[in-house]
Amino acid sequence: MPIDPSAPTHTLLRLESANCCALIEWEVGRMPVWRHFGARMAMTQLSTQWPASALRRQANASMDRLDGNPVFPGFGNGLSLNPALRAHTDGRGAVHEWVATSFEQTTSAAKQTLELHLQDASGLLLDLHFTLCWESDVLSLHSTLHNRSAHALQLDWQACGCVPLPADLSDVAHFSGQWGHEFQWQRTALAATGWQMQNRHGRSSHEAPPACFALTPHSNDHQGEVIAVQLAWSGNHQFAMDRCDDGSALLQAGVWLAPGETQLAAGASNHTPTLHVSWSNQGLNGVSQNFHRFARSQVLQWNGGTMRARPVHLNTWEAVYFDHDDATLRALAERAAALGVERFVLDDGWFPGRPNDHSGLGDWWPDEQKYPHGLGPLIDHVQGLGMEFGLWVEPEMVNPDSDLFRAHPDWALQVSDHPLQLGRQQLVLDVARPEVSAYLFEKLDTLLRENSIRYLKWDMNRDLAQAADAQGHMAYAAQVRALYALLQSLREKHPAVEIESCASGGGRMDLGILQYTQRFWTSDNNDAVSRIAIQSGAARLFPLEVLGAHVGPAPAHTTGRSQSLALRCAVALFGHMGVEADVRKLTPDEAEVLARWISLYKKWRDVLHGGTFSQGCTPNGVWWLAQSGGKAILGVFTQRAPASMHHAPLRLTGLVGDGFCQVRLLGMAGQERARGDALAPWLDALRDTGVACAATELRHIGLPLPNMNPESALVFALELQNP
Ligand code: GLA
Repeated sequence: MPIDPSAPTHTLLRLESANCCALIEWEVGRMPVWRHFGARMAMTQLSTQWPASALRRQANASMDRLDGNPVFPGFGNGLSLNPALRAHTDGRGAVHEWVATSFEQTTSAAKQTLELHLQDASGLLLDLHFTLCWESDVLSLHSTLHNRSAHALQLDWQACGCVPLPADLSDVAHFSGQWGHEFQWQRTALAATGWQMQNRHGRSSHEAPPACFALTPHSNDHQGEVIAVQLAWSGNHQFAMDRCDDGSALLQAGVWLAPGETQLAAGASNHTPTLHVSWSNQGLNGVSQNFHRFARSQVLQWNGGTMRARPVHLNTWEAVYFDHDDATLRALAERAAALGVERFVLDDGWFPGRPNDHSGLGDWWPDEQKYPHGLGPLIDHVQGLGMEFGLWVEPEMVNPDSDLFRAHPDWALQVSDHPLQLGRQQLVLDVARPEVSAYLFEKLDTLLRENSIRYLKWDMNRDLAQAADAQGHMAYAAQVRALYALLQSLREKHPAVEIESCASGGGRMDLGILQYTQRFWTSDNNDAVSRIAIQSGAARLFPLEVLGAHVGPAPAHTTGRSQSLALRCAVALFGHMGVEADVRKLTPDEAEVLARWISLYKKWRDVLHGGTFSQGCTPNGVWWLAQSGGKAILGVFTQRAPASMHHAPLRLTGLVGDGFCQVRLLGMAGQERARGDALAPWLDALRDTGVACAATELRHIGLPLPNMNPESALVFALELQNP
């Protein structure tokens, strides 16, 4: 059909933020299509009169109807894309062709929103919600399906939304992992057949956390266009990138639903969680910095509205495990306080029937043998030393050997005709049952009311396997929602109590649970070398202040490998720092080293936790740079044997500011690779008074570095002379 440019049939709907914009072509009665998601453009820079259907000629062997790339692919229209909704009623009504009916837009200084209303001939209504956050360039999408048909609908898949990936975004990256090795970066070319990732662990998982990245072939940490997405959800999920018929791709993500998991009665609605999409043409650091700003301004909830300085932790787990003995714990607390620790977290082992991990979960009151007068005396001691007290709990779990299970064996998620499936000798409670969440609320509320507890380490140590409710329906998603509701009611009742999300280390780290929690336990692996990769990966998604990082014992309990105390400290510095070791056993020299790093953390935590974080690679390791207000802290970690005799100057791409910087060496771990009798004037100067370097020179030529042996670290302060 010839197009009359003077009478456009469509509208371009536009959302904009500081650097980014989203454009959707809208025409009542047709499926809205994506025109653009990426660099910001003014309306005057756009040719608005040409609809997507006019931009292509019909191809051979294609359907007669021409559309662009849909905002929510239907099913049964000849497109080969994964449908964004898969639903039917007893096998009928599976075709869905969405057409636009109306839209609403709002604009404020902080964000712009767009809500599209679509309908399908079978009596389904769909709302697509888009919010673009001005300062972070993060676009948030979720969808709501209303069943206005006369029949119950079996829902097999409902995407939160779909995001267009331009054809030159050709690579996909995501994280793989396992217990103790979270956030392992994987980057591959996006195949012609697309890409998919599913997680059916029932929690965000070590194996496939809910995030992925689409990159241009030459993009890297510092440059190139990247689109990254994170699903705010702590359960099963699915991500897919489909190739469209023009070679570009469409990304969709949502909750992976088990067979029969979601039935939508006539008149009922289903809301998806939110998918957060970060766009940048400044490489991976650009999308990560967007996510960090977004988490800080839109996700994290601090008591009183602002984060206070992140206190140094002492966690008792790798110090004493289940051996809770009053004298030992008091001595640990005393040594910890002397080192500068500010929060003492009593880990697993404090409740009855817990000499090991075989029993006791569910009975959330203090063990009368270990704590004859309750937790009060230990808490008083800890507070008397000037520290806060925190407590480990694992509320969603129950051991068959517990009073709770003996009283309520039916409270566990299970499939009636199958044998109970244990993980770490425990079962998962059906938290969506009101009596179960009421029990958990009552027990936790009592602990928090009767004791001066300022922090909960909320653990979750097994996958959901047979997650069927009392009626036999799979209840993975209901479990996540019930967990969020429980966390929310505890937060409302005890707003001053911070919560850490732990799941055998970093098995539940996502923007969904971060709305209710203030810290992640990034990994059970405290081996500093392993931690470099884990923390580099996690920092691509989350700001450093929520990444728990502890100085563990040597040898590390999870790997058997030993690193110097200084290296363990340097790595833990770039997170929310803590100590997880029997500090009673430190030699005076070690105690001095640890106390020095703790005090360094306290001096620099406002920069580490409030500014911009970048990372990059050296030929034999990585560097991390946190900067804020004219100050920066740089960590250079050598992991492997050096590639050359001398280290090339390290270009600090992303260093902000002009003029001169005073560069000082704050801390060093490991040995330099040089003759013992060789002079080191540069290093001496860095160590003594520091050296003035032009910021431009540091960006373009680089910071000269000593060549270090493997498993070493250099930590520098960079202070702009005239910020
Ligand atoms: C999990 C956590 C650990 C510790 C133990 C206690 O493994 O990740 O940090 O709390 O449970 O049982």
